[in-house]
Amino acid sequence: QSFFKPIHGASPPSATSRNTKISVIGVGNVGMAIAQTILTQDLADEIALVDVNADKLRGEMLDLQHAAAFLPRTTISASVDYSSTTGSDLVIVTAGARQIPGESRLNLVQRNLALFSKIIPPLSAASPETILLIVSNPVDVLTYVAWKLSGLPANRVIGSGTNLDSSRFRFLIADHLDVNAQDVQAYIMGEHGDSSVALWSSISVGGVPILSFLERQQIAYEKQTLEKIHKEVVQGAHEVIGLKGYTSWAIGYSVANLARTILRDQHKVHPVSVLAKGLYGIDGGDVFISLPTQLGRNGVLGVTNLHLSEEESQQLQKSAKTILEVQSQLGL
Ligand code: NAD
Ligand code: LAC
Repeated sequence: QSFFKPIHGASPPSATSRNTKISVIGVGNVGMAIAQTILTQDLADEIALVDVNADKLRGEMLDLQHAAAFLPRTTISASVDYSSTTGSDLVIVTAGARQIPGESRLNLVQRNLALFSKIIPPLSAASPETILLIVSNPVDVLTYVAWKLSGLPANRVIGSGTNLDSSRFRFLIADHLDVNAQDVQAYIMGEHGDSSVALWSSISVGGVPILSFLERQQIAYEKQTLEKIHKEVVQGAHEVIGLKGYTSWAIGYSVANLARTILRDQHKVHPVSVLAKGLYGIDGGDVFISLPTQLGRNGVLGVTNLHLSEEESQQLQKSAKTILEVQSQLGL
C-alpha cells in the first residue's frame, strides 16, 4: 500500500536507475565533517558509515538522520560490518589514529598500517568497482598501502593529499593580496606534510601570473613574505591541532570537493596523491605523492605537465624520497 496513488497509465519505476553510494570509514572528527558536507552538498543518494565504536556510530547516524527535514533526501546507514559498504561508488577512509600536538603525520604510520591491513581488503572485496579515497595520515604512505592491499588499479586509489594544503595556500595568498581565494590558482605539491612544495612559479590571480606581474611592476619581490606564507601552510595544521585538538572543517570541504569532481565526472584538476613513479623526475620506486591531477568518474584521468623551476623540481623529488624512506621500513 503506497501513500500515493499512481496516475492513470503510469509505467513502473525503471530498473536501470541507480543510486550513488558513498561509504565513509571512521566517524571521528574528520569522517563526520566529510559526511555532513557531502550531505549538505547533495552528492550522494546513500551514505554508509562504518566505525568500530558501535555506540558512537549509531549516535552519529541518528544525529544526521534527525536533520532530514532540512537536507536533500539521502539514505544514511551505519554498521560495524564492512559488507554494509557493498556496491559503493566512492569509499572514503578516515579511520585511524591522529596526531597529538607537536607530533608529525609520519609518526602515525605503524599504528595506521596495522589498521589498514584489517580494513582495506574487506572494503575492496565489497566494492571492486569503487574509487578509494584515503584521508587517514600519513596520507601519502597510506594511499600506497591501500593500493597494495586493495588490488585496485592505480587510477582508482587516490589520497586527499595537498588538496587541503593548496586551499590553505590559496586562502593565505588571497588574504595577503586582498582578493577572493577562488580567484587564486596556486598549488602545493609533494607530501601532505612537512616536506610539501609550494609552486611559486605558477601562481596566478584572475589569470595574472603573480611573480612576473610583481617583476614587471618593479614591486619588490617579496621572497620573505612568500616563504612565510608557505611556512604558515605547513604550520597551519599543527597550529589548529594545538588549539582545538584536531582539524576537521577544511578537510571536510576539501574531500567533498574531490567527491563532487569524481562522482559528477567534472574533469577538474586537483592536487591529490597519486602513483607518481616516472613523473616529474620522481624515481626510486612506487610512491604516492600529490601532483596536479585531472579527476573524473574513472578516478585519475591524467597528471598535468606543469613547468617547474629547477628548485621546485628538486624539492618535489626530495619530498618523494622522504615518503619512500618511510615506506621502505614497512615491510610491504
Ligand atoms: P578521530 O580519533 O576523531 O576518529 C578516528 C575514528 O576512527 C574513530 O571514530 C575510531 O573509532 C575509528 N576507527 C578506529 N579503528 C577503526 C576501524 N578498524 N574501523 C573503522 N573505524 C575505526 O580522528 P580524526 O580527527 O577523525 O582523524 C582521523 C584521521 O584523519 C587521522 O589519521 C588524521 O591524522 C587524519 N586527517 C587527515 C587529514 C588530511 O588532510 N589527509 C586531515 C585531517 C585529519
Ligand atoms: C591536516 C591534517 C592534520 O589538517 O593532516 O592537515
